[in-house]
Amino acid sequence: MPRSSLEKEILKALLVSRDWVSGEELAKRLSLSRVAIWKEMEKLKSRGFPVISSRKGYKLFELPDVFFREYLEAYFSRFSFPVSVFCEDQVDSTNEWAKREALQGAPSWSLFIAESQTRGKGRKGRSWFSLPGKSLTFSLLIRPNLSLWSGFTSLPLVCGLAVSLALEEEGLEPEIKWPNDVLIDGKKVAGILVEGDFEAEVLRYVVIGVGLNVNLLREDFPEDLRLTATSLLEVSLKKHHRLFLLENLLNKLSKYLGHWEREANLASLYPELKKRLATLGKRVKIAVSDKVLEGLAEDIDLDGSLWINSEGERKKISWGELVTS
Ligand code: BTN
Repeated sequence: MPRSSLEKEILKALLVSRDWVSGEELAKRLSLSRVAIWKEMEKLKSRGFPVISSRKGYKLFELPDVFFREYLEAYFSRFSFPVSVFCEDQVDSTNEWAKREALQGAPSWSLFIAESQTRGKGRKGRSWFSLPGKSLTFSLLIRPNLSLWSGFTSLPLVCGLAVSLALEEEGLEPEIKWPNDVLIDGKKVAGILVEGDFEAEVLRYVVIGVGLNVNLLREDFPEDLRLTATSLLEVSLKKHHRLFLLENLLNKLSKYLGHWEREANLASLYPELKKRLATLGKRVKIAVSDKVLEGLAEDIDLDGSLWINSEGERKKISWGELVTS
């Protein structure tokens, strides 16, 4: 068995059991000697896995918050849907990586994750700040069966809702700022960058990039972000497990992207979304191309557009950037 699959099989056995796994049984199952199993366990320990041993066998004391391919593959093998894992320590941008692999035929539900990005990007050509070990930065490649542009415009909000619901399960109270920032206490905690590739109106693939500020301290942020950005640690005063968060985020994305793909709009997510949309009922200024539109944010459309009332005139805005809200 190649080394990487051996590591994966052993991790899988430990993860699935979450209890003692007998060295003898494992050796039999993998056609190895007990000494070989012991050596593999030592290697896992040197990678940071808290493997403990006793007469009963081996056990994972807790799940480490690290990312590497074999571990994530073993971890996500418990999911009811298959996820293809692409994992590196450092890449330029997980979105760019996902797009390159999409063109090489990577399947739907490919996860691209890296501890650090040398050119992490945000919307409108901005850069995205993250710190290895403290941030969560990943992209999900999906190949939806959808050809309507109007379906695509609602996608950022669907992702914003999925991220918000995952954060609520961590005991937090996030809000969504149209079209897809996630805020806590008015500060940005997560950014989402959705990129799609259309060919003759047919959507070939979508890359959903998520950047989440997880365990960053205030002083970890560059000075120019300290007033506008926050982290889960900063708002809850406790550390959060990035792998558990990732699992929950993927589960939520799977559920809500499923609704979105079936309906090609926000119909069944509408009430949940409206409750969390901080933008509604506020006066907003929105940059659309080279213009700035001003008005009262009145409602959200099923296609994800924002309806504003600008001096008595109702205007529908599909894409834009909130300058103020
Ligand atoms: C924004 O708020 O402007 C969107 C930020 C999106 C950042 C994430 S981090 C993972 C993925 N890779 C990137 O280069 N960007 C997205």
